[in-house]
This record gives sequence, C-alpha cells and structure tokens, in this order.
Amino acid sequence: MKKIIAVNGSPRRNGNTAELLRHALRGAAEAGAETELVNLYSLKFTGCLSCFYCKRKDVPHGVCALKDDLAPVLQRVKEADALIMGAPIYFMNLSAGMVAFIERLLFSNYIYSDEIPSVFPKPLPSAFFYTMNMTEAHVEQFGLREKMAFYEGSAARILKAETRSLYAYNTYQFSDYSKYESLIFNEPEKAAYRKEVFPKQCEEAYNIGKALV
Ligand SMILES: Cc1cc2nc3c(=O)[nH]c(=O)nc-3n(C[C@H](O)[C@H](O)[C@H](O)COP(=O)(O)O)c2cc1C
Repeated sequence: MKKIIAVNGSPRRNGNTAELLRHALRGAAEAGAETELVNLYSLKFTGCLSCFYCKRKDVPHGVCALKDDLAPVLQRVKEADALIMGAPIYFMNLSAGMVAFIERLLFSNYIYSDEIPSVFPKPLPSAFFYTMNMTEAHVEQFGLREKMAFYEGSAARILKAETRSLYAYNTYQFSDYSKYESLIFNEPEKAAYRKEVFPKQCEEAYNIGKALV
C-alpha cells in the first residue's frame, strides 16, 4: 500500500493550511493510500545547525545527525511514496517551521557534487500548498511565485521527482473579525471568498492528493 505524508507548517492545527491538507489526504486515502498528517508545530525541532555531518565522507550520506522530534519524521518521509508540504505565507516566505523542515530534509540529502547532487534513495513526488492573506494580484505584484519556485525546484531536484503547487489566496484568518484590529480587510468580501472559492481550492487539494497516489 502506498503511503502519503502531509506536513502542516502552520501552528494552527485547524487553520486553512490544515484544512487543505486534510482534503488532500482524503483524496489519497480514497485512492487507496495510507496517510499521515504531521503538525510541525507540535514537535520540538530546529532548522539545520550546519554541522555538515551529512556531507562527511566517512559516514553514510543522506542522514541528518540531529536527534530531535523531526528525526523520525524525516525517516518516515524517506519511506513514503509522496509528500505534501503545506505552509502559510509569513512575511512573503514559507513559515519558519516549514523552512526548518525543508532545510533538514533537503540539505541532508544534497551533496556538493555536480554528478550526484542528490542521495535521496528514490523519486519522491511532492506538492506545496501555500495559504495567504494576499490576493492573486498581490502574489503576482510581489513575485511570490518566483520565490517559491526556488523551494519547488530544490524539492524536484533533491527528491528526484515532479512537484506541484496550490495557492490558496485571500484566506479567512480569524473566526470573528470584529474581535481583532483588521481594518485593512473587508470581512464580508473575505467571507464570500471563503464560501465560494475556498471549497474549490479544497477540491483541488483533494485531486492533488488523489493524483499523488
Ligand atoms: C507572522 C505572520 C505573518 C504573515 N505574513 C503574511 C504575508 O507576508 N503575506 C500574506 O499574504 N499573509 C501573511 N500572513 C497571513 C497568513 O499567511 C494567512 O492567514 C494564512 O492563511 C494562515 O494559515 P493558517 O490558517 O493555516 O494558519 C501572515 C500571518 C502571520 C501570523
């Protein structure tokens, strides 16, 4: 049976990112896969500490030396058949937790060599889900796609397989906007977008999950 792992890079276990990931895993499960959702912010771990253990010549390549809560997750990712990385956009980047996860996963499987830049044991198809307050027009204006293309290209190269992406714009951030300073947002417009567009993005997530199996 195929195994699909989804990694939630939002601290909110029931936020927009988690919801998209759950739809993707439902798609994967309905296609016959075994699924797992990892909430990064429930784990105690750091980003890469630049010890360069993974680049040493005298030890097996592809192993991150850090022994924290992420170590068994990295091992399970290695054994999985597909990986979905979901993250909210924070300050025009992936959330810090997702950046730390990517550093650990990709750098430990990357070798400074033109001939064999990746020591990942097999092709691992992947997908990136991004959630954000911005509209699609803002994404174009601020060049977010170009920035994310670097993460996607690195994943494709080091995990040796195709990667896909899903952008969920204009997310509904608060359960009750009246309780928060949020004058720059038009709540009724956001609520309408959530009602009409977010379900389509959930369906897209479902289809990606299914297609990854
Ligand atoms: C620290 C922080 C920084 C953020 N920076 C941005 C940003 O640069 N651009 C943007 O569109 N949204 C930004 N947001 C909004 C989140 O990306 C958005 O609400 C996202 O959908 C939250 O995902 P979640 O519901 O899964 O937690 C930021 C939110 C936080 C908490």
